[in-house]
Amino acid sequence: MKREKNNIILVGFMGAGKSSVGTCLANTLSMNFVDTDNEIEKRCQLTISEMFKSRGEEFFRLMETNLLKEYQETLTQTVLSTGGGMPLCAENVSLLRKIGFVIFLKTSKEVTYQRLKSDTTRPLLQCENPLGAIEQMLKIRVPIYETCADLVLETKDKSIDRIVQEIISIRENFA
Ligand code: S3P
Repeated sequence: MKREKNNIILVGFMGAGKSSVGTCLANTLSMNFVDTDNEIEKRCQLTISEMFKSRGEEFFRLMETNLLKEYQETLTQTVLSTGGGMPLCAENVSLLRKIGFVIFLKTSKEVTYQRLKSDTTRPLLQCENPLGAIEQMLKIRVPIYETCADLVLETKDKSIDRIVQEIISIRENFA
């Protein structure tokens, strides 16, 4: 199967910095930037929270897979930031790996919690015990992110610029 290596795909948990790193990386490399959550929101004319409420999570997950199927044909020279649940479905993992070079931005539960404790836009964390939910989800998801990725990048204590520079220097060896 053909693999469009000129795309870079960022996967990882909510709050890992996929969108911020992705925007900076795309600017630095003069590539396009696409965020799957933003794209789905635009197409459905609903926020993710509204979508989960009115259409259900399953509908959102279907939108994610459909988007990847489309990107498999069309995406080029793009940094793609994905929603944190994207690699949970095996079909998505295989699509992601065909579309580009996959990087897992790894974060700890503490950092994630600090970043997201006041956030109201992630429906999966609007619960009584968000720290517990983060911990549970990370336990299940980290091995999945690791399996999906060509590269695992620990982001702890690193600035966005530093992460971008690390990706650029590592990627030169793969390009
Ligand atoms: C989700 C992560 C979110 C968004 C949705 C579901 C998840 O994206 O896709 O709320 O299942 O982890 P971010 O990772 O950009 O927050």
